[in-house]
Amino acid sequence: MLRAKLAARRVPLHWTNMFGVIALACVFVLFVTGAILMFAYAPSSETATYHGSYLPLAGAEMSKALESTLYISLELPGGLLLRQAHHWAALLLPAAIMLQMVVAFFTGAFRRPRRLSWVLLFGLLVAALLGGWSGYALPDDMLSGTGLRIVEGIMLGIPVVGTWLSRLLFGGGFPGQIIENLYPLHLASGVLLAVLLAWRWWDAYGHEPARFPGEARTVPAWPNFAVRAGGLFAAATALLFLIGGTVTIAPVWLYGPASPGDASAGSQPDWYTGFLDGALRLVPPGWEFELLGRTWTLAVIVPLLVVGAFLMLVAVYPFIEEWVSGDSRAHDVLDRPRNVPIRTGIGVAGIVFYGALWGAGGADVIATQLNFSLEGVITAFQVLVILGPIVAFDLTRRVCVALQKKDRETVLHGYETGRIVRMPGGGYIEIHRELDAQERGRLVGPAPIEPFIARPNRDGRVPLVNRVRARASRLFYEDRLAPLGGQSRPALPAGEQRR
Ligand code: HEM
Repeated sequence: MLRAKLAARRVPLHWTNMFGVIALACVFVLFVTGAILMFAYAPSSETATYHGSYLPLAGAEMSKALESTLYISLELPGGLLLRQAHHWAALLLPAAIMLQMVVAFFTGAFRRPRRLSWVLLFGLLVAALLGGWSGYALPDDMLSGTGLRIVEGIMLGIPVVGTWLSRLLFGGGFPGQIIENLYPLHLASGVLLAVLLAWRWWDAYGHEPARFPGEARTVPAWPNFAVRAGGLFAAATALLFLIGGTVTIAPVWLYGPASPGDASAGSQPDWYTGFLDGALRLVPPGWEFELLGRTWTLAVIVPLLVVGAFLMLVAVYPFIEEWVSGDSRAHDVLDRPRNVPIRTGIGVAGIVFYGALWGAGGADVIATQLNFSLEGVITAFQVLVILGPIVAFDLTRRVCVALQKKDRETVLHGYETGRIVRMPGGGYIEIHRELDAQERGRLVGPAPIEPFIARPNRDGRVPLVNRVRARASRLFYEDRLAPLGGQSRPALPAGEQRR
């Protein structure tokens, strides 16, 4: 029954499908390796003296967590491979999810009936970040201890509830029972990932797969697509183990036990938490004030609010766009990014904003590697984080409009062939090649929809909220050229060319 249904379901072949499969392979590797690591890892902050095979640390005081991680890395057969494959999968997973989000955003794949799918994808990203962050801390080495110290500092900077939150997470003072508390959180993030993934698949199964405009190549979900996806899944899994077996990641024996005071410049978190670190680094010095007998640490509050608002906007964007555009139709055909310049501009602005925060997270590395002053690099990122998104938005909009005009030209006049013909009267013309139905389908703009219009209510007044919505709606559609459908010339008989 299920097999017959899957055989009847047509899935478009598109390279963007691979991000989902790669994410699935990462989750698979995380589960398999994590489940085995559980047998050897000791989630305990109790102090132990190291008597293992790594002589430079002989006799060093460390937590049992680090002692067991050293055992896994250097004594347990295959242990290092498992640890490193687990860590590499944790590094690749957020990238695969983010790329899926980028594709879904720019093609409008988050519109009805896939709004839930977007929210679930966002949830997957949060779960992946939570899993990565909590896992990063588990070995309790120098780097993870430094990261935890920063987290404690951030928590303490949160007004009113900060101290309480910090005590709750750390189970008292620093480092307290952090390993014991993070371990269940880490396992829970894995379970959350699995649940969200299954939910998203179930949701996707409930409606047609989205198609790119003009796309013709589709294959049955079973067996064609399943075999292709299975091949990629196997290749991605193998690659993760290959990288895990050959490329060092988190060599905790070199870092030694957690001791935040000894961490050197250039200590970096895993890449996916870099944007949070960058947000903290961009705050100018001295951003705090005293009020009501408390110190209000803007250096913590502002980055938290800004990053929180950014993530919230990402999560609810489909609902905002639907409200603004008034387009609540179901869409199984995706948009070409150029045909929705405002959305594409917002997307590029968001990427530049995220990129600036992320880059700022490595400001010290940039300064030391390129021989710049740290202050200069920070100032450059401060400018970039504010002006970059504005410039990126405007440039993207303009490029989109230009590309729409180019498409319009192509639809109206066909492709240039480079063949110049001399006419009997002496003039020259270039032969253009007519578009076939598939190309035309791809280039002709989306079906038109009118912007939301604010109409007076029964009292003859136009409510403020409707006026705001109408203005936003006008802006949203401003850069969209009228669709070409009606204006394009009829197709010529096969074999004939238009001049
Ligand atoms: C239910 C599934 C999971 C289990 C059973 C599990 C288990 C473990 C265990 C036992 C460790 C400590 C061992 C060690 O550090 O060598 C660990 C570390 C880690 N985990 Fe997981 N984990 C799971 C899911 C995840 C997920 C979803 C992520 C991230 C997306 C993740 C990222 C990490 C990272 C980055 C480390 C540190 C690895 C290192 O030592 O360098 N884990 N995990």
